[in-house]
Amino acid sequence: MIKFEKNNELNIAMKNLINSMVDANDYITAILNYNEDILTPKKEKELKEILKKYNVNFDSLKYDTKILTDNPYFRDIKLNYVDSDTVNYDNINIKKRTLMSMNFHEPMGKYLFHHHPIGYFETDVQMPVLMQGSTVWMSPAISEMESMKDGINKGHGKCLAMGLGIGFLPYSWLLKDEIKEVTVVEFNKDVIDLFENYIRPQFKTDKKLEIIHGDAIEYYNEEFLNKFDYVYVDFWESTDDGLKSLTKLMEKNINLPHVDYWIENSILYDVKYMVAPYLNAIYSGKSVTDFISSIDIDLKELAKKVNRYFKTRNDVIKTEDELLKIIHGKDVLRNILAQ
Ligand SMILES: C[S@@+](CC[C@H](N)C(=O)[O-])C[C@H]1O[C@@H](n2cnc3c(N)ncnc32)[C@H](O)[C@@H]1O
Repeated sequence: MIKFEKNNELNIAMKNLINSMVDANDYITAILNYNEDILTPKKEKELKEILKKYNVNFDSLKYDTKILTDNPYFRDIKLNYVDSDTVNYDNINIKKRTLMSMNFHEPMGKYLFHHHPIGYFETDVQMPVLMQGSTVWMSPAISEMESMKDGINKGHGKCLAMGLGIGFLPYSWLLKDEIKEVTVVEFNKDVIDLFENYIRPQFKTDKKLEIIHGDAIEYYNEEFLNKFDYVYVDFWESTDDGLKSLTKLMEKNINLPHVDYWIENSILYDVKYMVAPYLNAIYSGKSVTDFISSIDIDLKELAKKVNRYFKTRNDVIKTEDELLKIIHGKDVLRNILAQ
């Protein structure tokens, strides 16, 4: 079991970690009051005060619609309302000055505070979306463009995407010179049929795009993944269902350097937010059983995984650096999910 040396440096580091979680929670609660609301000049002033209070840097909350209109997918692909048994395309109107999320977690400082870029457009914007009931599976929004940027840039040779959505990632890849061909695994036949009928005909590329109707979890095996030069896994809607899906993938214990996962760093915040209080409980000499019992039912399995993982370690943590390497270590966090 992991152990700690009790010292002043670690006393302070533990306190800072827990305080940064509390601050992040307060900040997000305050910001959420404004999200998806039309930001009047008065509300914008209030919001900027909140950002200043938490030292969140922002040049401006105004985003230029050129970021959208310069994007090849947004420019080339048009969707009208069309439905199927399970999913539909729609065109939603985002009213000017509506505050929205422009990306997922951005770490701030060395502890666990993070902020979420937010902003608005000064004109109304029409945005195509793929919906399944109330689930928004995909739209070419700035938050999607930003959060997929790395995956788009890293794509080369033969690429695989898990999750078709509206084909935003496949199209962005196919337009790159470094990409030879793209394969996609998609679970929902309706998503594939709508794509084939309404989106693929608008693609301005002749490169090969193969779509396999199947479950990403089943195709997530070494033999299949190794057929590609780069793989991007994106079959979840947000960090909530993302944590469940990423856990299932990590439990398969496949660790390939050419595979990335959409918003993985944001999903792993949930794990960090379990690890920090768990280690703090151990550091303060509290009972692990009491800690696990205090966790809500939906996160209890994660708490047990954290405990199983730290039981396998026999090191003694002495410094803040060592503590932060655990908290922010992607290998550690993936390993916890694999337990
Ligand atoms: C967020 S969207 C993907 C967006 C896509 N990256 C794009 O660029 O448009 C997620 C997609 O994954 C699909 N999906 C959900 N669970 C799946 C699974 N187990 N296997 C394969 N596809 C799945 C959904 O039907 C949906 O089309």
